[in-house]
Amino acid sequence: MAVTEIKTVVNSWNEWDPLKHIIVGRADGCCIPPSEPASDPKIPADSDMRGVHGPRSAEAVEKANAQLDNLTKILEQHGVRVDRPDPIDFNQDIGTPDWQHGSMFGCQPPRDVILTVGSEMLEATMSYRSRWFEYLCYRPLLQRFYDEDPKMRHEAAPKPRLTDASYKANYLSDDITIDERLEMVSRKDFVTTEEEPLFDAADCLRFGKDLVVQHGFTTNLKGIDWLQRHFPGLRVHAVNFPGDPYPIHIDATFTPLRPGLIINNPERRLPDEQRSFFQRNGWEIVNAARPAHNEPPPLCYSSVWLSMNVLMIDEKTVCAEASEVHQLDQLDSFGFNVIPIPFRDSYPFGGGLHCATTDVYREGDCQDYFPKQ
Ligand code: NVA
Repeated sequence: MAVTEIKTVVNSWNEWDPLKHIIVGRADGCCIPPSEPASDPKIPADSDMRGVHGPRSAEAVEKANAQLDNLTKILEQHGVRVDRPDPIDFNQDIGTPDWQHGSMFGCQPPRDVILTVGSEMLEATMSYRSRWFEYLCYRPLLQRFYDEDPKMRHEAAPKPRLTDASYKANYLSDDITIDERLEMVSRKDFVTTEEEPLFDAADCLRFGKDLVVQHGFTTNLKGIDWLQRHFPGLRVHAVNFPGDPYPIHIDATFTPLRPGLIINNPERRLPDEQRSFFQRNGWEIVNAARPAHNEPPPLCYSSVWLSMNVLMIDEKTVCAEASEVHQLDQLDSFGFNVIPIPFRDSYPFGGGLHCATTDVYREGDCQDYFPKQ
């Protein structure tokens, strides 16, 4: 059967069960949005992103799309049905009654926006004004899945107001040192306030009955509490990584590979008191291999640690970025079949192989991997 004929079933409980259907993003029309309260603290003073905004170049879009298309082809060759979002015109003024902003962002990273838990696809609140309308790119697909799978639940978290009250004014001035940043992060002093629930879907990792969520710049405690109330059958755990001066999205920090095995960014170590939860349930947390690159590609929001932003096709097969030789070796040493996929041209558009995808269907059901709570 051709992969395009795979019937629509929405079901995915974790990051590693056999993958049958996924969404892969697109680079078309992606913009670097003007600065806003949520993004300013992420852009260091010496970054090439500082002061730059507007559409990305046609050449960069073409190269990123070639890699996204290649990822699609490889997944299809592995029996996975792939659907793609519908980009909208991101380069336009947007606004709500509360604020106006000069452009949107794009739709390369579906992982940031849509959280699939079992038969539910949940649109995250998001925490950047420039990303408030990004869900629109996924609506055609989600509506189709809703029509085709009678068990599919299409949900949207309450849209946040994102007024100035949702952000700490002057959270970080330009001359703040990295040590001062790290000290603030270790105190869980982040740019977002607790004005309203906020979460980006890419701060969440799914482990069957347990959802592990990073508390940081893009997800606040009210967002985590909202997730717990929304999923009463799940156990939601907040985690922190004090070594990360920009805690935005969990998937270049903490990556489950299969039941019992997680790689953790050695510069963003899970604190001991949070580590014990995994250890008492028999999970091993191993330092991820060093990235092969000293710098991210130009005009990229993410760090070199996209090296660990891998996508599992099943618990024996992993897609990893082709130039990340150390990460490829480490995955090989764990016994995985490793599929190297060139992806660095797509990084500036919203991240790595995990970011650029979101699950629709993985075989398998909801398991309890943490009986000792
Ligand atoms: N904020 C993370 C990106 C996660 C995909 C990093 O830059 O490492």
